[in-house]
Amino acid sequence: MGRLIVVSNRVPVPDRNGNPPAGGLAVAVHAALQSDGGIWMGWSGETTEGEPGPPTVRQEGNISYVLSDLSQTDVDEYYNGFANRVLWPIFHLRLDLAEYARREMAGYFRVNRLFAERLVPMIQPDDVIWVHDYHLIPLADELRKRGVTNRIGFFLHIPWPPADIMFAMPIYDTILRSLASYDLIGFQTDYDLENFIGCLRREGCGDQIRGPDGGDIAVGNNTGAGSWIRACGRDFAAAAFPIGIDTARFASLAARVTARGQVRDMRRSLEGRALIIGVDRLDYSKGIAQRIDAYERFLQNNPDDRERVTMLQVAPKSRSDVPEYRAMQDAIATQCGQVNGRHGTINWVPIRYVNRSLSRAILAGLYREARVGLVTPLRDGMNLVAKEFVAAQDPEDPGVLVLSRFAGAARELAGGAVFCNPYDTDQTASAIAQALSMPLAERQERWQRMMGRLLDYDITHWCRDFMTALRQGTDRA
Ligand code: ADP
Ligand code: G6P
Repeated sequence: MGRLIVVSNRVPVPDRNGNPPAGGLAVAVHAALQSDGGIWMGWSGETTEGEPGPPTVRQEGNISYVLSDLSQTDVDEYYNGFANRVLWPIFHLRLDLAEYARREMAGYFRVNRLFAERLVPMIQPDDVIWVHDYHLIPLADELRKRGVTNRIGFFLHIPWPPADIMFAMPIYDTILRSLASYDLIGFQTDYDLENFIGCLRREGCGDQIRGPDGGDIAVGNNTGAGSWIRACGRDFAAAAFPIGIDTARFASLAARVTARGQVRDMRRSLEGRALIIGVDRLDYSKGIAQRIDAYERFLQNNPDDRERVTMLQVAPKSRSDVPEYRAMQDAIATQCGQVNGRHGTINWVPIRYVNRSLSRAILAGLYREARVGLVTPLRDGMNLVAKEFVAAQDPEDPGVLVLSRFAGAARELAGGAVFCNPYDTDQTASAIAQALSMPLAERQERWQRMMGRLLDYDITHWCRDFMTALRQGTDRA
């Protein structure tokens, strides 16, 4: 079997002992690379003043990490610009936040060309290439232009928007058509797949689109089954592969840390109050402002619960060079201060706000301490926090997940989570109240349903499914 070559904007480089970072994706993909040997290529995270030099290569076992520096102009145009000021907002349905600049679009394609040029000399005939996320959509097209005929797969970690939104993006057609250069395209949910197929149809470039049974495309619960598409002169497959987490490992981590240092101190500091937790990168797609509004509404509607609950919002800074993100930092801090000022007492702070990253162990312990997990994105490809929250719970006394119906995870966690519409402040406030007052037997029953799914379809399963489909290729087309 050929090697695996993974390409992503960020590369989870192992520590000095060769261990990958603790995130599920890094561990699972690292394991896949380790078994057949391979390369993980991407941005080093470093910027240079002038033109970047050649990539650095670090060998760990039979994996080569190939890291390219980028110039400040590249980072501004490709990462802060087109990827995070055009693709990210549009794919999260925020046309109002998209800022188009021709120069940044050009920078996006230039960096994709640079990655392709660096990759081509390393590719061997049997290698399989797996590209991740919206930063690198045109990469396969650039590789094909350079004569690469290997199987190339793409997984989109974020949502795919409906045609009406997608088509508002200048050069949407170049982006859409460039995807036909892949052999397999993976989406988080079948809604995303349906939107993608809708775009191909509306664009008139889906010459032939068939469902897994050979009939017309059936968009339903067809996880991993996929569609076979002939478009833009190529045959390729597209399917939903909802990403999982390292469920069993995360659950055991959470069980181990509850008695330890910071988690134990935090529990003591609650003085018996129920903990409501939110954990998100500081990103407008996460609905943090709407969540705080809903929590305040809950306090207003349930005066008896004041001083009996504490909300902890953990939100590390993210993409701070993008103006919309910078503006959010001040806005959320101000909002938390206002809620605390309005409702706090000399003995009680309604919201604790932590503006930084925590270790996975502490995070797991905090999830387990919480009676309610608030995961209320306005739009999210999957949302791993929702899955981590569930995995971390104590089976004897589990907390309740309040989940936005607009998170990709909503499909899999139906029947367990309390759903909310984050745009509806009253409804989210009621969902918080319902979660806090839920009887133990119902909490256990809901948790078991969700945990069963998360154990069955964990990150290793996800990685294996995608790789199997990619290696099989489009033979069925
Ligand atoms: P996104 O990928 O958009 O940030 P996800 O919820 O899918 O959203 O994944 C976020 C990941 O980052 C999760 O694994 C989560 O545990 C981690 N994370 C989020 N906030 C923090 C934090 N404050 N400290 C450490 N890890 C965090
Ligand atoms: C999302 C994206 C990832 C990205 C991550 C963190 O999960 O899908 O591709 O790496 O956010 O964002 P950052 O811009 O810091 O890489």
